[in-house]
Amino acid sequence: MNHFANQSFLKEIDFTPSELEYFIDFALHLKQLKQQHIPHHYLQGKNIALLFEKTSTRTRSAFTVAATDLGAHPEFLGKGDIQFGKKESTADTAKVLGSMFDGIEYRGFAQDTVEQLAQYSGVPVWNGLTDQWHPTQMIADFMTLKEHFGHLQGLTLAYVGDGRNNMGNSLLVTAAMLGVNIHIGAPTALQPSATVVAMAQKAAAKSGSKVLVTSDPVEAVAGADAIYTDVWISMGEAVAPQERIKELLPYQVNAKLVAQTEKVDTIVMHCLPAYHDKNTEVGKALEDEFGVTALEITDEVFNSDQSVVFQEAENRLHSIKAIMAATLGDLFIPDQLFN
Ligand code: CP
Ligand code: NVA
Repeated sequence: MNHFANQSFLKEIDFTPSELEYFIDFALHLKQLKQQHIPHHYLQGKNIALLFEKTSTRTRSAFTVAATDLGAHPEFLGKGDIQFGKKESTADTAKVLGSMFDGIEYRGFAQDTVEQLAQYSGVPVWNGLTDQWHPTQMIADFMTLKEHFGHLQGLTLAYVGDGRNNMGNSLLVTAAMLGVNIHIGAPTALQPSATVVAMAQKAAAKSGSKVLVTSDPVEAVAGADAIYTDVWISMGEAVAPQERIKELLPYQVNAKLVAQTEKVDTIVMHCLPAYHDKNTEVGKALEDEFGVTALEITDEVFNSDQSVVFQEAENRLHSIKAIMAATLGDLFIPDQLFN
């Protein structure tokens, strides 16, 4: 009996808090197996489709290596390589892929696309990021928090920057579900929608967490155990960079803002990629055009001892592995484990 058998992983709210915690704990276990070179071929002989409409370093690498470590074969299907979206509908693509592959990862724009893939493919579908949610990132991030602090309940997480993007939505809801106090610091126009806030408040009422949405960055980070930020312009977003930069500069995670937590052991998180220096094409263009050397996080904070960004990135592998193995593997995960 496997409680998660053939279930898709589309958004956090589809699961209960104890189910999300199971993925986190399973990921921590799989990390140990990997470190100790203990084989864990839970998906031996399976084939996995990796469907990407947007670019990716971490998610693509994590799914590829996770599938291989689990004994499966991953096949990358990029936007330009297949008929999807141009000559073929989502439903038809889902039916074809589902007839050949045992599981499908999708990264792209609309949440509706990943939901349709799940509806029509007949196999587990895993959301590798949409404009609305980034649920596999949540398992890695809360796994990183648990690894660092030893527990989740009662921690305070502050997310500052674009509060309306996929990361803002996912962190708000997941933290509230898992009993982590969540502070969102963003200008009014970039605060999470009323629907997502209501979803989080409902979850928080059950878990005992507190939800704060504020336009004051200092109020947002006060008492935070972890400060989190993300890019100011997400993939596929058509906004004027200059305006967005002006709007979000007060929310930059720099040494001054980090000091406002008034805690000595606050950690700094970012899902990556991050604009923290000009060592990238975009970074250089930003400096040349707008005179800024960093956007959402300064180089100093990004590279400080408080930063756990690369631990988070590595944890994408272990958490994605846990999600794939739990939903597609021949495992014994009894219903009784979940309330
Ligand atoms: N954090 C994350 O999803 O990174 P990629 O865009 O590189 O996959
Ligand atoms: N909000 C970012 C997250 C990248 C992992 C984006 O959607 O581009």
